[in-house]
Amino acid sequence: MAEADSSDRIARARRLLAHADSVAVLTGAGISAESGVPTFRGSGGLWSRQRMEDVATPAGFARDPVKVWRFHNELRIELERIAPNAAHLALARLERAVLGRGGRFALATQNIDGLHQAAGSRGVLELHGSLTAVRCTGCDYREDVGFRPLGPRPTCPDCGKWLRPDVVWFGETLGPDVWAAAVRAARSCQVFLSVGTSALVYPAAGLIEIALSEGPGRGRRHLETSAGTIEVNLEPTPASGKVDVALHGRAGHILPQIVA
Ligand code: OAD
Repeated sequence: MAEADSSDRIARARRLLAHADSVAVLTGAGISAESGVPTFRGSGGLWSRQRMEDVATPAGFARDPVKVWRFHNELRIELERIAPNAAHLALARLERAVLGRGGRFALATQNIDGLHQAAGSRGVLELHGSLTAVRCTGCDYREDVGFRPLGPRPTCPDCGKWLRPDVVWFGETLGPDVWAAAVRAARSCQVFLSVGTSALVYPAAGLIEIALSEGPGRGRRHLETSAGTIEVNLEPTPASGKVDVALHGRAGHILPQIVA
């Protein structure tokens, strides 16, 4: 992207966000990369070091729960020393600004790292759950364990069955309430912003398509200056050619500029 071209796009994104009464945001691992949290795909991504089938599927947990717990416990413990970055903080500022002018704001994240909440975002829709939460495989027990060490074979204090991380693994269904709220927001928002996601994993990536076909991207709405879809990502994704404004670069660099 040429410099002038890029600053035009930044100005357009900033204008959209400055006036929107209703904003919906989808974030992925890329927004936490500058905090030191590894992304999933690409070189250096978690799935280049670990077989996703082994550590992030119900079948992997059934085969080797100790291995799955080791993987999640290591990620969880690392979180304690990780802080939100400029991109998380910009989204928290944007939420305050939109709510402050009486508008609606929704932030759906695929991340399980809790960094949006740490940055001050409220009402975060955690589509894939939370790394600091556990739930029982046998009963309704659920707890936020924070960064407390859990040991290699955590079991339920109520019924004695295995505990598992309260995250959504591949092949599992998203929480219906959280998903319904995210879909509603993507459909009804005036501006949809996608940040730091490869836009490859469904159903979460489907929110971008919902925003494009039923939300601010639908019909001729993109010709209005007040409605639009924006993507911020280090590199082009399948969504880049379809959104109104595609900005390629670091989220921690771009978001503070478009959330003026
Ligand atoms: P991915 O790892 O698939 O994609 C991260 C995206 O962030 C890539 O397109 C990078 O180019 C981009 N990126 C990296 N650094 C960035 C930066 N500083 N600023 C902006 N963008 C940056 O992660 P997700 O799209 O979140 O699911 O992956 C979706 C789901 O797949 C995850 O929630 C997880 C995973 O497997 C489950 O575990 C169920």
